[in-house]
Amino acid sequence: MTSLPMPTIDGARLRADMEALAELGRRPDEAGVDRRSYSDADMAGRRWFRDRCAEAGLTAWLDPVGNVLARWGRGTGPALALGSHLDTVPRGGVFDGALGCCAALEVVRGLRTAGLTPPFPLLVIGTAEEEGRFGGMLGSQALCGLVDRTWFARARDDDGMLLTDRLRVQGLDPARLNDAALPVGALRGFLELHIEQGPILEAAGDAIGIVTAISGVFTWTVTLTGTANHAGTTPMGLRRDAFAGLVEAAHAIPEVIAVAGGPESRITIGRVDVVPGFVHTVPGQVVFGLIGRDPDGGVLDALAAEMAAAIGRAADRHRLDMVIDPISRLAPIGLDCVLGDCLFRSAVAAGYRVRRMSSGAGHDAQSFATITRAGLVFIPSTAGISHAPDEHSTWEDCIAGANVLLRTVVSMIVDQR
Ligand code: HGY
Ligand code: MN
Ligand code: MN
Repeated sequence: MTSLPMPTIDGARLRADMEALAELGRRPDEAGVDRRSYSDADMAGRRWFRDRCAEAGLTAWLDPVGNVLARWGRGTGPALALGSHLDTVPRGGVFDGALGCCAALEVVRGLRTAGLTPPFPLLVIGTAEEEGRFGGMLGSQALCGLVDRTWFARARDDDGMLLTDRLRVQGLDPARLNDAALPVGALRGFLELHIEQGPILEAAGDAIGIVTAISGVFTWTVTLTGTANHAGTTPMGLRRDAFAGLVEAAHAIPEVIAVAGGPESRITIGRVDVVPGFVHTVPGQVVFGLIGRDPDGGVLDALAAEMAAAIGRAADRHRLDMVIDPISRLAPIGLDCVLGDCLFRSAVAAGYRVRRMSSGAGHDAQSFATITRAGLVFIPSTAGISHAPDEHSTWEDCIAGANVLLRTVVSMIVDQR
């Protein structure tokens, strides 16, 4: 093999694929890309990606929870999986998830063009519901047999829609959740290319980040209930103002992190519903989403305990009832060192500036790391922005990341890893 020229990434085709996929999430009334899980746009993106894989000569299909799987190559032994997620956050960007899916397909195309057929199958994967409309990581967890059945049956989105209903509406089959799980030993590894979604690579002038560990995350829906009342007649000292309780809880976040967290701890309140939400009415109830993260499992749990206590204290002070609904918890996880070294060497061999780093964002690699060796490669995010319309990475960096993926697959073929 070493005599054969190194296969290459067709950068123009990678860009064209990502731009075409982004168009499937455009909304005329909103900026950014919106392919929220199991929306019509998300399903259009899944079918588009399945068809692109089929056009490239892969055997492609959707599994019962909407993951796109596309298999190429001979042999029945454990496959090497490559991919990321196809869904996005609301008003998201072009690159989050889509880069890893389209680059995975481009790697297979590059191998086919070079006439290099691996001795093991390749499995391109576009996962479903990574971003958390219903809790997050559903697709990769289903493939890895990690889905909690009780959670799966009761999971709802912010509008109260059941996950199982949404799956059926989109022609998927929640009753066949078990069929989505890959057989034990089905994979020899999983590689994911993703944007960093933070400022580190850009600030350091590095082109590639090899991820060594991924932070854990807990997700809650919190409800504080007081008394809706007239905004003009209710004295300040007699109110049971639910929004005032939320403000006090949010204000406590820096102290919670100082007491129980560390330098990589993150706590975010990203969504708030105020009821009844009318300017002349003291808020009787607030429902808010809260996410906590840390690369250490013990610190993550300490953060959760301290944050719950802080919300409780705020609720007491405003005489509110408090309900914390734990939506999901993903444990932090270390990634495979051997694959990480392989990725690192590929980046060096390609002449890219590269560093090892951890990930504050969650990724599907977190799920796959529970059943096989998992590797995760970052490219820089412009100004560190992601989960927003301004999310941007240069096409040059996208191609560099895809090249690192391709070179690593070639080295795994040569070394029969
Ligand atoms: O929010 C995250 O950690 C990931 O982008 N889903
Ligand atoms: Mn992502
Ligand atoms: Mn994301």
